Amino acid sequence: MKTIACIGAGYVGGPTMAMIAAKCPDLTVLVADVNADRIRAWGTDTLPIYEPGLLPLVRQARGRNLFFTTDVAEAIHRADLIFVSVNTPTKTYGQGAGLAADLQYWEKVAREILAHSDRDKIVVEKSTLPVRTAEAMARILHSDGGRIRFDILSNPEFLAEGTAVKDLENPDRVLVGGDLETENGRRAVEALADIYRRWVPRERVLTTNVWSSELSKLVANAFLAQRVSSINSISALAETTGADVGEVARAVGMDSRIGGKFLRAGIGFGGSCFKKDILNLVYLCRNYGLTEVADYWESVVRLNEYQKTRFVRNMLKAMFNTIAGKRIAVLGFAFKADTGDTRETPALTVCRELLAEHAEVVISDPAALDNARREFGDTAHIQFEPDPAQAAAGAHALVFLTDWDSYRHLDFAALYHGMVKPAFLFDGRNFLNHRELFHLGFNVYPIGSQPLTHLAAGGPGPGQDGPVGLWVCGLWGKTGLASDGSDGSD
Ligand code: UDX
Ligand code: ADP
Repeated sequence: MKTIACIGAGYVGGPTMAMIAAKCPDLTVLVADVNADRIRAWGTDTLPIYEPGLLPLVRQARGRNLFFTTDVAEAIHRADLIFVSVNTPTKTYGQGAGLAADLQYWEKVAREILAHSDRDKIVVEKSTLPVRTAEAMARILHSDGGRIRFDILSNPEFLAEGTAVKDLENPDRVLVGGDLETENGRRAVEALADIYRRWVPRERVLTTNVWSSELSKLVANAFLAQRVSSINSISALAETTGADVGEVARAVGMDSRIGGKFLRAGIGFGGSCFKKDILNLVYLCRNYGLTEVADYWESVVRLNEYQKTRFVRNMLKAMFNTIAGKRIAVLGFAFKADTGDTRETPALTVCRELLAEHAEVVISDPAALDNARREFGDTAHIQFEPDPAQAAAGAHALVFLTDWDSYRHLDFAALYHGMVKPAFLFDGRNFLNHRELFHLGFNVYPIGSQPLTHLAAGGPGPGQDGPVGLWVCGLWGKTGLASDGSDGSD
């Protein structure tokens, strides 16, 4: 094995190949993509994706044994092993629309591999794909009568955006699926596993059959997403009953059988994988007539949609049932912190619903503003503002939708000062110090616990000059008293 290629230089292909190139200086790694802008950017110090720690990794290998190219045919031709890491979004048309994976990019690559290969190769499925896709790929690749031998492997990617470099460096496990029934299949599996074994402990490199590998990826993401939906469902209950979902998550997560990760309540999960993978699973189950199983997993996605809508509904109620014409500063648009990725970001749904209520929306984000602009095109009543302080100036509400660390250190007193009163703060990620913000004068609305508000009971709060004592908050089904039982005024 001398040369490996990766088709698709995105969030998965780019970082994964950078790590392999850094760890295996004797291998030549070619990363090919049809998107010339993307390829150009990989050659600069402004990489096409924002990912902490990625630039030093790329610089370590770029030009030495890591090369980015638009010449897909040449990369295929030279490679002994080819990763396929192209996008597989959910279908938006025809049969399986809204559920099944759109395999058009992936099939195109399979045909290109066939067209540009003149010797045996290993082809590795890296994108998330429905179970049994490898089988379909094998059929395409062997469609010219088996002139060339292709061994098809499944090697699902478990890296999470924002921690991709750490996850690649020190993965919980690496999964390599192949045809373990044949000598050639086993050899191919070992060839790929040996690449990872250069830096991953042997016991963490698991080998299995292709279908189990494909299904494991879908199931891992479905389980993670299901935990998020489970805790989010409890957040709704906590808000109406007076419990604090954070306390519940802490108590529940300390049970070692359950564990504490992925129990942070928020506005709902986003990202390119969770929803897509669950819907793939649902589609698969429906195809096999497993209606109950399909319904079970579909409810995880339904709950996620509910959580986003519920958030906006709660905002509306808190702000006296109208946000028309009000300036709302949305802080954070990426689907999670430490990435510029906005695919399936819950912020998109929230912003759309705010616009539908005729709010004046100002979006700020340290890394995702370009992607946010692309999402909205030339939609009216929306602005983009890199500086959170500028976004907040003159706003009725701050809405935190991504838990960027830098947001913890904002000068909230100054933000409060520049806002219309009463000033509202909605923490869609439950990551800010609510009590401190309340004492600054904000009416604070967390997820999964009682709001801290100056509005309902006791007359004007700090900085307010209107007859707010007449306003009844009514949000979250409670009286609007501060959660410490006081009337909330200092
Ligand atoms: C996920 C999987 O974690 C990864 O293994 C797979 O390869 C790709 O899909 P990613 O989408 O990058 O990774 O992000 P992840 O950290 O899993 O978060 C997904 C979403 O869930 C984010 O929107 C995040 O904010 C949300 N989330 C996560 C919560 O709302 N609460 C939590 O406790 C954890
Ligand atoms: P992921 O998160 O799975 O990495 P991305 O959308 O970030 O998904 O990356 C997929 C990449 O695959 C894109 O940069 C896209 O241009 C590329 N791509 C899609 N089809 C082809 C193709 N036929 N040949 C080469 N690259 C392709």
